[in-house]
Amino acid sequence: MPPHKPPAPVVAIDGPSGAGKSTVARAVARAMGLLYLDTGALYRAIGWKAGETGTDPADAAAMAALCARVSVTLQADGAGGNRVLVDGEDVTDRIRTQAVAALASAVSAQPCVRRALLDLQRGMGRHGGVILDGRDIGTVVFPDADVKIFLDADPAERARRRYDELVAKGQAADFQQILAEVNARDHADRTRPIAPLIQAPDARVVDTTAMSADEVIARICAMIRNG
Ligand code: DC
Repeated sequence: MPPHKPPAPVVAIDGPSGAGKSTVARAVARAMGLLYLDTGALYRAIGWKAGETGTDPADAAAMAALCARVSVTLQADGAGGNRVLVDGEDVTDRIRTQAVAALASAVSAQPCVRRALLDLQRGMGRHGGVILDGRDIGTVVFPDADVKIFLDADPAERARRRYDELVAKGQAADFQQILAEVNARDHADRTRPIAPLIQAPDARVVDTTAMSADEVIARICAMIRNG
């Protein structure tokens, strides 16, 4: 009997930063007619708000107060990506800095932040037909996801991709500094006590170190088609 392919699957893509999750998830969404949800953008939105309001990400009470009053919305942008609104303000471009990435990583260790974003993510994916990328999608957010992928790559390769991206944008880049940031964020994301970045036991690992984006996309589309 051919494998059963659910009509509206939930696809979870987890892995460390720079493994290519968002590029791949967006392309797979387009190819398979799924809605793409960039969950890292939600943590970046809260991290950005903490930065704007001078809230210390390590202060649990202050972060709980921030979570209670902030409104974060993720919208499809019509081109396969997402736009992120914080209290109605579009911050999509402003959250793409290394400073906001570090703030996102810090606020993501707060239980109140994870709780607030858990409900939001489950709500957005409840009808299926979605592909979400993040750190804990297959382990916490959708432990019953139809397809779980853990996308990985060597830290040096992930740093090189980030370096090339910055250089292509004409921005100043220091490879050693980027590598140090990649390692620091990996360490923080993997060792936080709540919902750390770990591979779900039933996730399939795709190591993208020596693969092109097109190869990764084709492999994941095949995994979804074959169940
Ligand atoms: O994928 P990204 O670089 O945009 O994620 C930013 C930070 O958000 C990352 O360092 C960890 C956190 N994050 C998380 O804890 N859980 C998720 N599902 C997605 C991101």
